Amino acid sequence: MIITSNTKDMLVLMCLSLVMILAGDLTNNLASAQQTSAEEQVITLPPQSSTNILSSSPGSSVRPPASQKWGAPADVPTTVLPQESDPTVWGLIRHGRKGLVSIPNQRAGLLVQSQGQDWRAFRNDSIFKFGGWVLLGIIAALVVFFLARGRIKISHGRAGTTILRFKTIERMTHWLTAVPFVILALTGLNLMYGRDYILPIIGHEAFADITIAGKWLHNFMAFAFMLGLVLMVVLWVRHNLWDKYDWGWIRAGGGIFSDDVHPPARKFNAGQKIVFWAVILAGASISYSGLALMFPFAMEPFAATFAFLNNFGTELPTQLEPIQEMQLLQTWHAIVAVILIGLIFAHIYIGSFGMEGAIDAMWTGEVDENWAREHHAAWVAELKGEPEPEPLSFEAVGSAEKPSHD
Ligand code: HEM
Repeated sequence: MIITSNTKDMLVLMCLSLVMILAGDLTNNLASAQQTSAEEQVITLPPQSSTNILSSSPGSSVRPPASQKWGAPADVPTTVLPQESDPTVWGLIRHGRKGLVSIPNQRAGLLVQSQGQDWRAFRNDSIFKFGGWVLLGIIAALVVFFLARGRIKISHGRAGTTILRFKTIERMTHWLTAVPFVILALTGLNLMYGRDYILPIIGHEAFADITIAGKWLHNFMAFAFMLGLVLMVVLWVRHNLWDKYDWGWIRAGGGIFSDDVHPPARKFNAGQKIVFWAVILAGASISYSGLALMFPFAMEPFAATFAFLNNFGTELPTQLEPIQEMQLLQTWHAIVAVILIGLIFAHIYIGSFGMEGAIDAMWTGEVDENWAREHHAAWVAELKGEPEPEPLSFEAVGSAEKPSHD
């Protein structure tokens, strides 16, 4: 056979290609063999079944089918589960193990927060019932009180002369606090109880409308309420410090159980001081927790508070996830609000229907002189330059002392 130089070149080229192809295959095989052994060391694949293979069949989706009814149990296709479902990994995640994320929001590293379930149950069951019992209990107590005592009258009848009790600025401050509070209370209670008690009566559409409007009102009225609180402190704090009349007033139950007992008091009696400080302190606390709920994750007070309380023997957790702080804030906000609403029920009753002549103080600002002498004898004496009445002594409480101005 005659081999030309051209044919020789071709043969050399083919041999070289063959060698390179074989060498390439060998390298690839070696690399993949190494990779497989490395993978086998790290991951043990669970046995695959037809339910955990990611299906690529048409129609497979994480979305429930369009035909699924609102509120019905989710009908998510089982084929969407990830291919490698390691029960240990998911067990850890389910119990709150945090992972690492490369996005700025580090909270996203926590996929499942199990305490959230406790919080939800506490909110939907314990707080729900607690609030109901507090509010119904106060209403029941007021009804019983009214049936037993009736409306508290001015024992000596109206004098016909009046005294200025609250200046315009004081009345404006009172209503600036009171009106937003009532709106906050109603819209807040709707968030807690509306779905169970209002929705079935007015239907989904109307309930959605009032709840959305209520949410906006709740957020904005909070600022008016807070302003009212600040003004109240400025105007009234000096009248709400403990004084020599308070103990006698408390011992006599404020005289509200009898027409004949009128323990003297200055501008505010001990009962009003309790209302004042409850409104200011609980109001400030509700405002703070409300702001923290309005601006999520901006304030996280519980870990530090718990750490402080632990100095006194408690063993409260001091490592809290941001989401736990939010849950505790919501719990606190709801509980303190419900207690204050209950107290304000009683205040509204006494300040309006429950006591003759009381509402005038906050309406016109002028109160009947006899009303003023029966409920605030020391204040009247101070205004008129008369001698101060003696505080009610323990003996006098027992013997149903007559009003000091008799
Ligand atoms: C909405 C119906 C309300 C009525 C009819 C009402 C009525 C009154 C009246 C008559 C007084 C003056 C009592 C006096 O002359 O000694 C008063 C005082 C006061 N009110 Fe109201 N009030 C209402 C709501 C509220 C609300 C919602 C708050 C706060 C959240 C509030 C906080 C106060 C405070 C702190 C005082 C001074 C302390 C006291 O008298 O108890 N009020 N209110």
